This record gives sequence, structure tokens and C-alpha cells, in this order.
Amino acid sequence: MDDVIGVAMVMDDVRGSSEDPEEPIVRWTCQPMRVTTYATFVKLAGRSFHSVMSTKLPHFAEGEVVKGFGRGSKELGIPTANYPESVVDNLPKEMPLGVYYGWGSVDDGEVYKMVLSVGWNLYYKNTKKSMETYLMHTFNEDFYGSKLKVVMLGYIRPMKDFSSLDELVKAIENDIYVAKQKLDQPENLKYKTNNFFSPSGGKGNEEAETNGPSHISR
Ligand SMILES: Cc1cc2nc3c(=O)[nH]c(=O)nc-3n(C[C@H](O)[C@H](O)[C@H](O)COP(=O)(O)O)c2cc1C
Repeated sequence: MDDVIGVAMVMDDVRGSSEDPEEPIVRWTCQPMRVTTYATFVKLAGRSFHSVMSTKLPHFAEGEVVKGFGRGSKELGIPTANYPESVVDNLPKEMPLGVYYGWGSVDDGEVYKMVLSVGWNLYYKNTKKSMETYLMHTFNEDFYGSKLKVVMLGYIRPMKDFSSLDELVKAIENDIYVAKQKLDQPENLKYKTNNFFSPSGGKGNEEAETNGPSHISR
């Protein structure tokens, strides 16, 4: 069959670069594409998203835990640790908003599995972009003011709006399930012992040199 030249709607590679909460979270652009089948088109569009992620992950972040709105533990039963604006602002602009999985530690302590959201919390109509981490461990008390280190290794899904609190909780529980499985895979497990988590604090880049590009926000 001859190639078909068509205009395809593809996910914009700079999704999430705007600080304006009114901007659409997913932007689409029209791009001419030469494809023979619909299956090829789907593969190509998916690859464009994948290539953005592979240049941005792993992402290492470090900062002090600040107070959020406190709804994570009260309303959701899923306590989250918030980063200050400075850390959020240092995220590479091209990094898509959404839910990520990886590893995290508090005050250079044990390294736990984590899920992390980057976005405006559509459900709560937040106007400020936030980075919220849920560490898979039961802590006896709050740790505001402590140092939180995370390495983001993979992307799970975009941020969504939900019609009920119950749906939001179910979505986060599913994220936790997905993250647990992914983090047991050898290519992700190895980051648990990355030098970045040691008290002397490597920048995370030592490992990344052999595993592709890396970025850190503090
Ligand atoms: C893994 C994870 C996924 C999340 N996904 C969404 C989402 O899809 N939509 C949304 O509005 N908020 C999402 N959130 C953010 C929660 O709404 C947020 O943690 C909650 O508002 C508590 O924030 P607070 O403690 O600052 O009040 C997510 C949070 C986490 C940790």
C-alpha cells in the first residue's frame, strides 16, 4: 500500500511548560505524518511522548517538606509531603504534569517506594502547581521541615479531575499498586541504593551517566 500523508494530532512535547493554571494540561499540535497504517500512527505518536520522558528521567529532587493544605491525611487517608515552590519551579519545564513513581527518603533515613503528583490538583481546583509525595511507609508523626529526597523513575498517568473524593482515592490507590510492581523491577530497584540517598549526598548523576540523562531540582 502507498504511504498516506496526513495531518496527525500529537501530544505536544512541551506539555506542562506553562505556569498558568488556566492553560490546558494536555496540549495537542497538528503535525504532518507519513504513515501506512493506523497502527504505525499510534506507535509514532506514542514514541514522541516516550522520547520526552527518556530525556527527563530519572529526575532527582531534594528539598524541605512544607505544609500543604493537609487534606492528604485528613480527607484522603493518604498523607503527602509537599515541596516548597523553589523545588517545584526547578522541575524541567518540559516534564509532563501527572503521577510518577520512584524512591524517597526523609532526613537521609531509610529509602521507601513512593508515588508523586506534579500538577494543580484539579479535584481541589488548586491555583498553584505542587509536587506531592506519598511515601509507602507509616510515619508516627509529621515531618515538616525535614529533608525529603526523591528520585522519579517513571510516569504513570496525567492528573485528572474526579467527580468524587472516592474516585480520587481509588485512582491514587491504583497508582500505588502500579508503582509497587514497577519498583520491584531490577532497572528501578537499583536506584534504591543510589549514592544520592547517602548522607554525603551524591547528585544522583553518577548512576545516570551509564543510564541516560539526569536532572536535579533542589
Ligand atoms: C499519587 C498521587 C496522585 C494524585 N493524583 C491526583 C489527580 O489525578 N487529581 C487531583 O486533583 N489530585 C491528585 N493528587 C493530589 C491530591 O489531590 C493531593 O495529594 C491532596 O489534595 C492533598 O493535598 P494537601 O495535603 O496539600 O491538601 C494526587 C496525589 C498523589 C500523591
